[in-house]
Amino acid sequence: MEHHRMEVTMTVNGRSVSRDIEPRVLLVHFLRDELQLTGTHVGCDTSQCGSCTVLIDGEAVKSCTVLAVQCMGQSVTTIEGLEQGSLHPMQEAFREKHGLQCGFCTPGVMMTAIQLLKQHPNPTESEIREGLDGVLCRCTGYETIVRSIQHAAGLMADQEPQPEEEVG
Ligand code: FES
Ligand code: FES
Repeated sequence: MEHHRMEVTMTVNGRSVSRDIEPRVLLVHFLRDELQLTGTHVGCDTSQCGSCTVLIDGEAVKSCTVLAVQCMGQSVTTIEGLEQGSLHPMQEAFREKHGLQCGFCTPGVMMTAIQLLKQHPNPTESEIREGLDGVLCRCTGYETIVRSIQHAAGLMADQEPQPEEEVG
């Protein structure tokens, strides 16, 4: 029997992509299998690990919980989209503060942390731990992750864009 297919178009890491897919395809499989963006990991089949977290229109979302077709017209950012010529401050901070061991959880942790810092640009340790509630790390005990995110907050504050010069 022929499966029904649909054309889905969305922006991924700043580029418009279109694919003809079955409507049942989850966003995480769309990213990994159709676009070969394998930095987004699958760590469970119960929507619990958070390794698959990406940003959809700036919101951190577990990409195994949404269908690709639900993201029609939206803008998705994956871990591959963070680096823009040089490491993103979040990546830099994880490198400096040893925020990863095996690295399996890291893409999901970083995407979650980026949204967290938008809400809490200077987060306390408990705000970070609360924000990471939906993301499981089996290696680090979270200590170095918390330190990395606090360091990233500092780096990102330093990089705040300067007020635009007046045009006149
Ligand atoms: Fe575990 Fe999505 S793969 S929450
Ligand atoms: Fe291994 Fe987090 S670094 S699961």
